[in-house]
Amino acid sequence: MSDKPLALILAVTSDIGRAVARACAAAGHDLVVTARDRQRLDVEVADLGQRYPVAVQGVEMDVLDRAHRARLLEQLPRTPDLVVCAIGLMPAQDDAQADPDLAERVMQTNYIAPALMLEQLAELCRERGSGALVGISSVAGDRGRRSNYIYGSAKAGFSAYLSGLRARMHDHGVSVITVKPGFVRTRMTEGMRLPALLTIDPEHVARSILAAAGSRTNAIYVKRIWRVIMWVIGLLPESVFKRLKL
Ligand SMILES: NC(=O)c1ccc[n+]([C@@H]2O[C@H](COP(=O)([O-])OP(=O)(O)OC[C@H]3O[C@@H](n4cnc5c(N)ncnc54)[C@H](OP(=O)(O)O)[C@@H]3O)[C@@H](O)[C@H]2O)c1
Repeated sequence: MSDKPLALILAVTSDIGRAVARACAAAGHDLVVTARDRQRLDVEVADLGQRYPVAVQGVEMDVLDRAHRARLLEQLPRTPDLVVCAIGLMPAQDDAQADPDLAERVMQTNYIAPALMLEQLAELCRERGSGALVGISSVAGDRGRRSNYIYGSAKAGFSAYLSGLRARMHDHGVSVITVKPGFVRTRMTEGMRLPALLTIDPEHVARSILAAAGSRTNAIYVKRIWRVIMWVIGLLPESVFKRLKL
């Protein structure tokens, strides 16, 4: 059995997930990576295996499928030292408003299913007494805005979940880290006009995640200015906030 630390990346086909997988492999972690599409998973596994001298295992997983979540646990070669959940879904707010099935999928994908998956992984880490679990949440969860509240409310639930899990795991040597990246240039934000000064690359997020996991930080805004922006937005009274076209 390998004596390298093991990183589990949920959603390696995500632009951020892929960058995190590469950063972990470059830092000497063996990898288990997941994706819901077998062919795209195989491409990512082959690519990682060619780039880095580490063991890479791919597991097909649609996080909405309970049987897939159980199968992932069965297929883990050992308890991961680091888990990073990059699963997410953000359609246009108008589409999610108009389609309850889509709205439900957004809520399930960004909050309920990842939380249920992390709950089981946290239990494995708790039994061993070590590990770091990273959930990628969003500043969109800090306050519900008219332009993105279906996604934002799911991320709010996910952030609250991570906060509670962090407190429970504190006594067991397991750290739980909430990551709020702000705007990132990925497939998710393709076509959006993002302010250049507030927008970062997936590699920046990956570096911050590894640093946060190493220092057992609780929660980070990857670009620190977001902490200030969201603090100000949080201070606005509802009577003002509800009139803003945010
Ligand atoms: N980009 C940003 O500005 C930004 C900002 C804040 C937070 N985030 C969060 O960062 C994370 C990564 O996002 P990204 O920007 O890298 O976007 P992305 O490339 O669209 O990644 C989203 C990933 O989630 C996966 N996914 C969706 N539904 C799934 C399901 N049912 N089962 C398993 N996997 C599923 C997608 O799989 P497929 O490849 O099969 O579609 C994809 O790999 C997400 O949690 C996102 O909410 C992003």
